[in-house]
Amino acid sequence: HPAWLPDEALRPLGARGVRLLASGDDPVVTTVRAEVDHAAQTAGTTTTPARATLALASDALAVPGLRAAAEHALALAERPGLAGLLGAQGFVVADDEGALVVVAAQPRGLLAGWHHLVRTGGDASGATAGDLVAHVPSQAVRMLDHWDNLAADSPMGPVERGYAGASLWFADGRVRDDLTRVEHYARLLAHTGINAVCLNNVNVHARESALLTSGIEQVARLAAIFRAAGISTYLAVDFAAPITSGALRTSDPLDDDVRAWWERTFADVYATIPDFGGVVVKADSEGRPGPFAYGRSHADGANLLARALAPYGGTVFWRAFVYDHRQDWRDRGTDRARAAYDHFTPLDGRFDDNVVLQVKLGPIDFQVREPLSPLLTAMPRTRLAMELQVTQEYTGQQQHACYLAPLWREALDFRPWGPVELWDTAATDPDAQTVAEVVRGTDALPGGLVAVANVGDDPFWTGHPLAQANLYAYGRLTWDPTLDPSALLDEWVALTFPQADPAVARTVHALLDESWHVYESYTAPLGIGFMVRPGHHYGPDVDGYEYTPWGTYHFADRDGIGVDRTRATGTGFTDQFPAPWRDVYESLETCPDELLLFFHHVPYSHVLHSGATVVQHVYDTHVAGAQAAERMRDTWRDVRGLVPDDLYARVAERLDEQVRSAAEWRDQITTYFWRKSGIPDPENRVIP
Ligand code: GCU
Repeated sequence: HPAWLPDEALRPLGARGVRLLASGDDPVVTTVRAEVDHAAQTAGTTTTPARATLALASDALAVPGLRAAAEHALALAERPGLAGLLGAQGFVVADDEGALVVVAAQPRGLLAGWHHLVRTGGDASGATAGDLVAHVPSQAVRMLDHWDNLAADSPMGPVERGYAGASLWFADGRVRDDLTRVEHYARLLAHTGINAVCLNNVNVHARESALLTSGIEQVARLAAIFRAAGISTYLAVDFAAPITSGALRTSDPLDDDVRAWWERTFADVYATIPDFGGVVVKADSEGRPGPFAYGRSHADGANLLARALAPYGGTVFWRAFVYDHRQDWRDRGTDRARAAYDHFTPLDGRFDDNVVLQVKLGPIDFQVREPLSPLLTAMPRTRLAMELQVTQEYTGQQQHACYLAPLWREALDFRPWGPVELWDTAATDPDAQTVAEVVRGTDALPGGLVAVANVGDDPFWTGHPLAQANLYAYGRLTWDPTLDPSALLDEWVALTFPQADPAVARTVHALLDESWHVYESYTAPLGIGFMVRPGHHYGPDVDGYEYTPWGTYHFADRDGIGVDRTRATGTGFTDQFPAPWRDVYESLETCPDELLLFFHHVPYSHVLHSGATVVQHVYDTHVAGAQAAERMRDTWRDVRGLVPDDLYARVAERLDEQVRSAAEWRDQITTYFWRKSGIPDPENRVIP
């Protein structure tokens, strides 16, 4: 299954005919040339004259009718700072007497322009003669992290938290011989706007550690494929690699031999892959080695690698997912939500220019509902990337249909400095930045978005075929975080099922538009999180994590539930937010319902803004959520015969499982609350 680039998706454009003006043998230009030829072949036409022109500015300058667009594209790329960095990756769309013109300054922009043509079918009807419209990515960092291991017998299987089969590129301890699917995958990513991939799991085990050293020739084969799609290749590395490689007995970041080891290692890497992107590092996190063992800071650790990469232009993505995973549940003084902020804010300004601090969206761990990680608001002198999880670890593991773009949009649009509707808006700056603007960064500190991928060697790429929409939407949001999730679904459907009956789009919307809220409604309520089965994290287990070392507790007793994170009486986590949110979350009166139990411990009889009590809300939402899942299953029947049979069957089978699982969630959660609270459901829907 070709996902969103079947040949038919190229046909409208191929039929219009595209004239390409791009000389040279740059690998990305070569890719575009092949794409243009392929589209023409697919359409079976050689339309003359072509009705769309795609050009590199250098080739277009001398052509009458293209000059203005070419000059504009060059000007975009020559702007100072971040604007120029992004401008060089974009393109300019113009109208040349009724024919569409797309001009880019650089090959990557040319490829982005090509995919814009594919998406729009080369339709010039939106363009006004004489207009020059610039399309420029919003974020410099548009990255996908793959948690792929080298073999099926690796700890956590072939792909950690992977729900779509084995790795697309690793098998049996090495890079696969046949990389045809990787070529197609790189095309899919390029189409959406992704410009960087990390190939291996952030938990770097011994075998994978060697990818950076003895395995680098194999990595080079993958880097060549991604390079041709305008995508840079990164590896996750083990901070203790100098030790695990057998070379040294220390990985102390201030040790000269350690520094020399990393310098030598990267010299070899760049000799093999001259445009290697850099590294992703999970250090001092969930048992991974890091600088703490030597009494050094995360800045010392990150800068060690950054300085060894700097001569080659490489970047370090240093993860902020650092917390005590060996907490004693009896210890009420430790709050996992506080950890990243407490560890990293003292280091603001101490990271080198080629370090990006990679911060998960929420302070705990990719839950269906969390507040924003306040660390993202507190590092003004550090490059930042917000990390999302496209793979559905906590959101139904690609058994449940759960479209995540609305969740990501909510986070990207969030204004950490207000205003807040419920609150004294006068006290805050109405023009304050959104999260998308914060992570975008500045001239000196460009940042962006990173996400954990959801793909594998599954024939539908993502296990649940509808989970493709999450990957598609993530990539598109990295390019433009103001895109509408619902419109992105239309795009995804139009490209993926180009010949389909309009009922397909209607059905996909009916299923997916609200699916995040549906999933939320039958799982852990009101922002409490972590009521999943320990280990694999699928299905309900309300007390599964309650007495474990992981720091994810709900503190339910006979009277109430929730984590008191206020500064008045709790862990003080609310203190980490800027105004006005530090006060909005602190107060029971203003804390949004959906995050109530994240911030407060309240009685089951506490009345929400919605008017329902906490316990009644749990009963109502869980019953309604499980019903909504049944409706989703029934809705899908409308497209039987309108989409490929095997795809239809796969989705139908997953929806059956979603219905089963949602009922299990409903029953366990409602019964739990009933048994704890003794408060009956007036409608008698709860199993005692
Ligand atoms: C989650 C996930 C782990 C992963 C970790 C991380 O905790 O369950 O599998 O390693 O996140 O992001 O590092």
